[in-house]
Amino acid sequence: MSCSINVKNVSYEINERVLFQDITLNVSHEEKIAIVGSNGSGKSSFLKIVAGLIKPKEGEVFLFHDKMEKLKDFRKYRSDIGYLPQDVNDFFLCPTVIEDVMFNLRAKGIKKDDAYSKAFEILKELEIEHLENRTIYDLSGGEQKIVALASILITKPKILLLDEPTNALDEEAEKKIVNILNSIKKSMIIVSHHKSFIESLAPTIYRLKENSLEKIN
Ligand SMILES: Nc1ncnc2c1ncn2[C@@H]1O[C@H](COP(=O)(O)OP(=O)(O)OP(=O)(O)O)[C@@H](O)[C@H]1O
Ligand SMILES: [Mg+2]
Repeated sequence: MSCSINVKNVSYEINERVLFQDITLNVSHEEKIAIVGSNGSGKSSFLKIVAGLIKPKEGEVFLFHDKMEKLKDFRKYRSDIGYLPQDVNDFFLCPTVIEDVMFNLRAKGIKKDDAYSKAFEILKELEIEHLENRTIYDLSGGEQKIVALASILITKPKILLLDEPTNALDEEAEKKIVNILNSIKKSMIIVSHHKSFIESLAPTIYRLKENSLEKIN
């Protein structure tokens, strides 16, 4: 099986409190899986381990069958991973929406005009083109979440790691995100508390409970 992500026997603890133990999870090419679990069960921490932001206590993470021995090994795949944090407060690097959405393309050396048209296109796709020139920190929580998603999707990463992508969104915006994510054929791990959202997106759902990951459908 061609996998984008293999998590093997991963354990993690914070301040000597075990969050999870011996978790194994494989996400194949273009597979979408969801993780649910109660507050504090460790979902965000698990996603950060897969994104290469924190190191597990034990176990291994493979990206595209390549073993990530150290956090710096993840750098090689930085542009292949689109990680949306649960809290997007520290996510933005530029003052305005359009600049932020263009940023990842500009960082890849794409010319300003091309980056602008691609950024505007994705804003239109997400129906937030009216926010183009707004200051990021004046936006509502839901608006910020969609802008963050736009700046991730614009580079077309091979893996999407989405931590509660709809937690601040209204029903309309949630539907829009479902349609967009459904149309994207990429490997995804989606963490969410929204039952209807994950059911319409991910055929496989896991629950993080009592330190382990169990498949619930
Ligand atoms: N850097 C940290 N320092 C101390 N404790 C932490 C840290 N990060 C997470 N924790 C604790 O670890 C536990 C798991 O946190 P995590 O954010 O992974 O849970 P979660 O399942 O994502 O919860 P939620 O559904 O509320 O987002 C929580 O009890 C949290 O307080
Ligand atoms: Mg969380």
